Amino acid sequence: MSGIKIPDAGGDSITLLKVDGHLYPKSPVDSQVDAIRGIRDLPVREDDVFICAYPKCGTHWVWEMVRLLLLEDTETVIRKEKLMLEFFGKDVLENFPSPRVLNTHCLVEQLPRGVFEKKCKIIYILRNPKDMAVSFFHHHTKLPKIYEYDGKWENHLSLLMDGKVDFGSFFTYLKDWAAVGKTHPEVPTLTLVYEDLKEDPLAGIRKVAKFLNVEKSEEFYLKVKELTSFNKMKERKGGLVATPDGSPVMYRKGEVGDWKNYFTVAQNEAFDRLYKENMAGCDINFRYTLKFLHNLSDLCDVCEISMTNNKKDDESGVKMSLIKIPDAGGESITYLKVDGHLFARASVDSQADVIRGIRDLPVREDDVYICAYPKCVDSGSFTTYLKDWAAIGTNHPEVPTLTLVYEDLKEDPLAGIRKLAKFLNAEKSEEFYLKVKELTSFNKMKEKKGSLVTAPDGSPVMYRKGEVGDWKNYFTVAQNEAFDRLYMENMAGCDINFRYSLK
Ligand code: A3P
Repeated sequence: MSGIKIPDAGGDSITLLKVDGHLYPKSPVDSQVDAIRGIRDLPVREDDVFICAYPKCGTHWVWEMVRLLLLEDTETVIRKEKLMLEFFGKDVLENFPSPRVLNTHCLVEQLPRGVFEKKCKIIYILRNPKDMAVSFFHHHTKLPKIYEYDGKWENHLSLLMDGKVDFGSFFTYLKDWAAVGKTHPEVPTLTLVYEDLKEDPLAGIRKVAKFLNVEKSEEFYLKVKELTSFNKMKERKGGLVATPDGSPVMYRKGEVGDWKNYFTVAQNEAFDRLYKENMAGCDINFRYTLKFLHNLSDLCDVCEISMTNNKKDDESGVKMSLIKIPDAGGESITYLKVDGHLFARASVDSQADVIRGIRDLPVREDDVYICAYPKCVDSGSFTTYLKDWAAIGTNHPEVPTLTLVYEDLKEDPLAGIRKLAKFLNAEKSEEFYLKVKELTSFNKMKEKKGSLVTAPDGSPVMYRKGEVGDWKNYFTVAQNEAFDRLYMENMAGCDINFRYSLK
């Protein structure tokens, strides 16, 4: 039984099994193809229950709930895969006593015909597709013997959005199953939502018991809740499907909202667009978070400052030193610290003297000062900086100050140049402004000045991209939310109406 390799954009590929145009995980079970081809004609029993979900939406969880409620067997530890239609055919499945709890990731019309004839009960599970995407990524990378995949998150996300994964497009799946009430009104179907189960598992368990006509005591429901809690299932069943290093594949985090730690803002926007396009007319009101998940302290942890050995006190007795500011990953940035402020180290002798001399620097009346926070973080908190400068009109009304905004300059450089010329009393012809515009365009400056400050590999440091909105490719959604909260807290009473993207 040979697999096919589905390449991602990074050159990695997932090995899958293709049967009659559909993609499946390639299990080590012989006769898997026969099992798949036999699904439609699988003999079903009236009391069979089918647990149906797109992969990574909580199949193991609900399967275990149903098994406990139906069989009242709290001792046995059994793999749900043993009763999975895509792995085992009639010869294996017929050995299980009734009632059987079968499970599958098939589309509605791929289910055994007998399900519709015998009106078997179906429990269908939904989960928000962003958490599903993160879970599927880990699933694929943690099972190297099955998928032979070691790709990157961003490339996996594209594969998933294109439906190039086992069980195909989740859009197709969601739409197919959303219509089951119309396409098969004869089949009793209960829809469960992962996020609802997380919020109130007991309510979910009661609902399942009622649907299956196996109502039990509250005490038993509490037992089911305990045995199907994430930690208990991980402890009892985690070893059944494990990574080569022994960690559980099917019980990873079991949370709502972990996607925010993976999706960048740009990926999130692209995902939302694609979702809207593909799900037009079939909106499912997913909940992507349950509550305020991310702690402000994640971002605000004040760095412990460690002094290096070359700390020295100068004659005035004021401290000046090179210090290393460690980040959470163990890397650190080296700065020059002078009189309590951080500066980028320049390869200039006597840099500290230069810095200390700033206050008494002789100035000329026609000097012009260009002031900005770096990169438009070595000078300490940027919110302190923003507030300080926002108050210049109040604190120093005697100083003529022009405020320019990067985003406005990007949008209309010519308007900015004219404004500047007017402020400096250096108005020129339109032709000259156009020349200034050309010479200060990003590409021209990169070409002419890029080599003045370079990285060790020769690339220009000061002319990277020059775009508005590139942050969306770096900030995860969780980081963005934490940033916004921190900004709001720190800038209370001094809101600056920043634009974070241009049309
Ligand atoms: P994560 O990878 O986000 O943790 P499936 O069973 O369909 O393969 O879905 C697996 C997902 O359900 C995994 O999500 C897994 O951790 C989560 N899961 C499994 N058991 C769970 C439980 N008892 N409670 C909550 N989530 C559970």
